[in-house]
Amino acid sequence: MFQRFRRTRLNKHLRSLVRETNVSVEDFIYPLFIRSGKGIKTEVASMPGVFQMSIDEVLKECEVLKELGIYSIILFGIPDVKDSIGSDSLCEHGIIASSIRTIKEAHPDMFVVTDLCFCEYTDHGHCGIIDEKLETVNNDATLEISGEQAVIHAKAGADMIAPSGMMDGIIETLRTALDEAGFENLPIMSYSTKFASGYYGPFRDVAESTPSFGDRSTYQMDPANRREAIAESVSDEMQGADILMVKPALAYLDLVREIKDATSLPMAVYNVSGEYAMLKHAGLNNLIDYDRVVMETMVAFKRAGANIIISYHAKEVAQMLKR
Ligand code: PBG
Ligand code: ZN
Repeated sequence: MFQRFRRTRLNKHLRSLVRETNVSVEDFIYPLFIRSGKGIKTEVASMPGVFQMSIDEVLKECEVLKELGIYSIILFGIPDVKDSIGSDSLCEHGIIASSIRTIKEAHPDMFVVTDLCFCEYTDHGHCGIIDEKLETVNNDATLEISGEQAVIHAKAGADMIAPSGMMDGIIETLRTALDEAGFENLPIMSYSTKFASGYYGPFRDVAESTPSFGDRSTYQMDPANRREAIAESVSDEMQGADILMVKPALAYLDLVREIKDATSLPMAVYNVSGEYAMLKHAGLNNLIDYDRVVMETMVAFKRAGANIIISYHAKEVAQMLKR
């Protein structure tokens, strides 16, 4: 005897009753790129619909987001001046600290996550302090200033800190720094399993953070490594992270599932810039049914085990869910 699987597919109400995975607007964090100035809203050529904005425009954008039901954002700062250690990110008047303060003043009901890294702030574009001998980022020197950056974010009013530099020991370092500064209740969402990926290309245009020499493969992970990917996230759980992440998302859904099963923390995926650009440009060229493919992709993230989706599609998804 065979099973009639089609029986529960014949009626649309029954199909929603038996649906195992749902996408909700509450699952999303929307990325924002902030630079100094006034009235600036510059679209990124590689990412139609994504902008660099000055803070006044960001405040307006928050209104739009709230109307759509999106209350969580992740901030990336683009400083006027870059130097070898990313000083702007360590200054309470720098672009990121002042943006956090201004947003929380105008929109105390927004949940403000901050990306903690140095690549947008350094003149060499790498994610920390360069070690001349190693010709790449010095892990422990970068840890020292990372603690400082976390406290700057916290004092400015950040609701959650998200370190993305893939330095070893970063979670323990930030947890200690935050606790010592009296922020023991501030959560850390770790970019715990982050790969050295070609999918970040468009982001580096918008964040102006392309490395001036070499690449990030001495600190971000090799896409080929499955066991190491799990170990990276397990290590961050042991160091005290509150939320884990896999990044990029689409090509790594096997690891989302494996890390979800190997740990007990909530999981985020970062649906990165190159993933957005692929669908966006395919849609604009009428190669795919854009809305449908976007929603199918979001469902796949949830089905793989993600609780949280960081995505440039968030606003569009919110609109689709309203219809
Ligand atoms: C900074 C950072 C990057 C992204 C998020 N935080 C870029 C990188 O590691 O080069 C990528 C996001 C995206 O591609 O959308 N470390
Ligand atoms: Zn970085």
